[in-house]
Amino acid sequence: MPSTFQPPLPLRSETPSAWAEAALADPEALLSDHAHCEKKAALSALTLARSFGNASRASGLLVRLAEEEMDHFRRVLDALQGFGWTLRPDRGNVYAQSLHRLAAKGLLDRLLIAALIEARSCERLWLLERAATGHPVLGSAPWLAFLLELERCEAGHALSYRGLAEERFGAEARTRLDWWLDREAEVVQGLPWRSTVH
Ligand SMILES: [Fe+2]
Ligand SMILES: [Fe+2]
Repeated sequence: MPSTFQPPLPLRSETPSAWAEAALADPEALLSDHAHCEKKAALSALTLARSFGNASRASGLLVRLAEEEMDHFRRVLDALQGFGWTLRPDRGNVYAQSLHRLAAKGLLDRLLIAALIEARSCERLWLLERAATGHPVLGSAPWLAFLLELERCEAGHALSYRGLAEERFGAEARTRLDWWLDREAEVVQGLPWRSTVH
């Protein structure tokens, strides 16, 4: 396991490692929230695919990305069941909702928000993976390996979304991402720590 984290995007607010201890206080709630996040990531990717036209390369990439999120969703559900837990109701993702409230540039912002959510998820999964080592339930080798797999996959998704934004919008995407990196840092710093990924 690497000792330092390299986020796929240059996030401007580093999550303290103590966050992971707080998030692990209620692992059933944490996994439930993560399951809902994976499901919403799949739905979001499919919705974005429609914006690119069904036959486009971008659409194909987004459909494959949605398949990966569905695979994550199913496996987090399997893990919940394996631990003897139940999927709790979706309490909503205040982090994602806060970002979407700031959006003003249609598809460009939707792609960049998706990239930022993936990058932040990646950072948080890395912290969870480190904190879960030695945890009585979540410290098992298969679970830690799954967290690592998720972290790497979400990093790839962050780069895919940023790449799609740059392909479609060019220099405007880079300028807008710079603006979004500050907004994302403000949003994430303003949220209380709970047993959720964000
Ligand atoms: Fe995922
Ligand atoms: Fe993802």
